[in-house]
This record gives sequence, structure tokens and C-alpha cells, in this order.
Amino acid sequence: MTDPVRIAITGAAGQICYSMLFRIASGGMYGPNQPVVLQLLEIPQAMGVLEAVKMELDDCAFPLLADTICTSDPKTAFTDIDAALFVGAKPRGPGMERSDLLKDNGNIFSSLGKVLNEVANPEAKICVVGNPANTNAYILKANAPNINPRNVTALTRLDHNRAISQLAAKVDCKVTDINKMLIWGNHSTTQVPDISYCTVSGKAASGMVDQSWAQEEFIPTVAKRGGAVIAARGSSSAASAGSAVVDHMASWVNGTADGDWTSMSVPSDGSYGITEGLIYSYPVICKGGDYEIVQGLEINDFIAGKMKESENELLEEAEAVKDMT
Ligand code: NAD
Ligand code: LMR
Repeated sequence: MTDPVRIAITGAAGQICYSMLFRIASGGMYGPNQPVVLQLLEIPQAMGVLEAVKMELDDCAFPLLADTICTSDPKTAFTDIDAALFVGAKPRGPGMERSDLLKDNGNIFSSLGKVLNEVANPEAKICVVGNPANTNAYILKANAPNINPRNVTALTRLDHNRAISQLAAKVDCKVTDINKMLIWGNHSTTQVPDISYCTVSGKAASGMVDQSWAQEEFIPTVAKRGGAVIAARGSSSAASAGSAVVDHMASWVNGTADGDWTSMSVPSDGSYGITEGLIYSYPVICKGGDYEIVQGLEINDFIAGKMKESENELLEEAEAVKDMT
């Protein structure tokens, strides 16, 4: 019998987790042959709801779910883990930007980062979801120097998936026909959805749509999609976010398909001139449980300018949290 992988998940009684946990427990993240143990963390006030989530997980009788641990003690949650998904944080409401959450949510990531540093496996794979995700990951990384910094990532897969869906609708193709979609930058309205390298059934996507659509409709629609969901739903995206976390981790663990890549926010190593250490969304190829930033792409002036704007926003956010890092 394969040993189970242990996954810590914060904010486990919240909206995102209510769909995501069931996907993980049924094998969506680590595959159909890999048992999992869920180490679920919540604040003390939410432990009652978390117990109800555990009851429902139990009631599904998932063959791959080896154990579910519910705790309000971060040390218990982060012990012996292979991965940690940092979902627990306040969501924004209508009229707010994600960066408006920095003050409230930043403290969660500095304090949980310290515990992670103390007890977690240094090679644990980390995905930060709570907003503003990139800068929260930046705070977490600074507070957890024992953790391999390459393994501290943030979620831009939701933006990547949104971009695929928008392009598929525009050119009337299946989502599976699309390869090499790309999101650069911050998970915010400055993000840069880029179809320069994208193909649709092997043909350049840029030749199938007007440049004005790509620049004036596609980019803002993808970048503002989170706000559009909030306006329509009254609360932020949850099921699509959970699905994107499953995709992010599944790609990292099992690899990206040959001839494709995905978008992940990872610590910049200076690639494409981005300040080292910022958590920036890049195209990555995943293989053997690791990822590499795709190198050598030529960037046109329009995209380069937007990439810089997103970098500048991350630099401003980093400055705003310097007392936490
Ligand atoms: P939610 O309010 O439904 O759930 C958040 C949960 O986190 C709550 O149950 C709360 O008790 C818990 N929590 C708060 N502080 C905690 C702590 N210190 N330790 C453990 N748990 C804690 O919110 P949600 O809809 O699940 O969204 C969670 C976060 O994810 C928000 O910040 C939201 O903006 C963000 N989000 C990010 C993306 C993305 O693509 N990166 C997408 C959607 C939502
Ligand atoms: C999203 O992109 O849907 C999330 O980041 C939630 C939000 O605040 O927009």
C-alpha cells in the first residue's frame, strides 16, 4: 500500500475548501492511486463548522482518504506534511481591491510562516491562495527561511484557466485545443494574460483574433473576472478557485503535458528582468515534482510595459509589508 501524502489546508471551513476538499479526497490532486491525509486548520470559532465538513467527508467514504485531522493548532496542521494549501484569509467584498486585504491578511501569513518554519518538512510544496496571494506568499517565504524558497508559490492558475475559457469562447474551440496560455505578474488587475505564444490546435492564436480584442477585451476581462464574480455572486469565486488549486498542485506533482506549460506565481530568480524574490507569475514547465521557468521568450513592447506595471505593484506591496518580512 502506498504511504499517504499529508496535505495541510488552512481556512478549511470556508467557501473555497467546501468544494476543494472533496476534489482532493477523491483523487483529483494526487491521482487515483495516491491516498491522502487532510490536516485541516481553522480558527477556534470555526471548529464546529469544520467538524461538519469532516462529517461530510466521512460520509463520502472516499477510498483514498486515509485520515482527516481537524485542528486549530498550526503546529499539528503543519507536522509531517508533503504540501500546504494556504486558503485561510479574509476575502474581499464588492468595491475592494485585493491589496486592500493586506493589513488584515498579512499578519496571518507572518504568524503561520513562523510555525511552518519551525515544524514543516523543508521540501513541502506550498500554494498560497488567500489574497493578495502573491504578497501573502512573499510574507510567508520571509517568515519561513527553512522552507525551500522555490517551493513557496501562489495561485494564478485560476487566471490561466479563465484566460483559456475566454479564448476558447472567442475562437469557438475546445479548451483542450489551447496550449501555452500565459499569465504574467500579480494575481490582481495588473496581471498580464498573454496569448503571444498560445496555440489553438497547433495554430498561433494571435493570428485568429484581432490585436484590439486581445489588448482591449481579453486582458481586462480576465484580469477583472474575480471582481465580476463578486458583483454577480455577492461573494468571491469559490468552486473555480478550488478547482484551480487542484490543477496547480496536480501540474506541479504530476507534470505539465508535453508541449505545454502552465502559469504559476513563483519566487522570481530575475528571469525576464523581474526583481528577484518577488512572487511573480511566469510560464513554468513541471516535471519530476519540480518546475522550471520557461526561458528565452521574446516579449513585445506592449506586454513588456504591462509586465513592468505588475512588477511595480508587487514592489509597492512588498514595501507596504516590510515590517512583516
Ligand atoms: P471564506 O471566508 O469562506 O473562508 C476563509 C476561512 O479562513 C474561514 O473559515 C476562516 O475562519 C479561515 N481563517 C481565517 N484566518 C485563519 C487562520 N489564521 N488560520 C486558519 N484559518 C483561518 O473565504 P474563501 O472564499 O474560502 O476565500 C479564502 C481566501 O482566498 C480569500 O482571501 C479570497 O480572497 C482568496 N481567493 C483567492 C483566489 C486566487 O485565485 N488566488 C481565488 C478566490 C479566492
Ligand atoms: C478571484 O480572482 O476570483 C479571487 O482572487 C477573489 C477576488 O477577490 O477576486
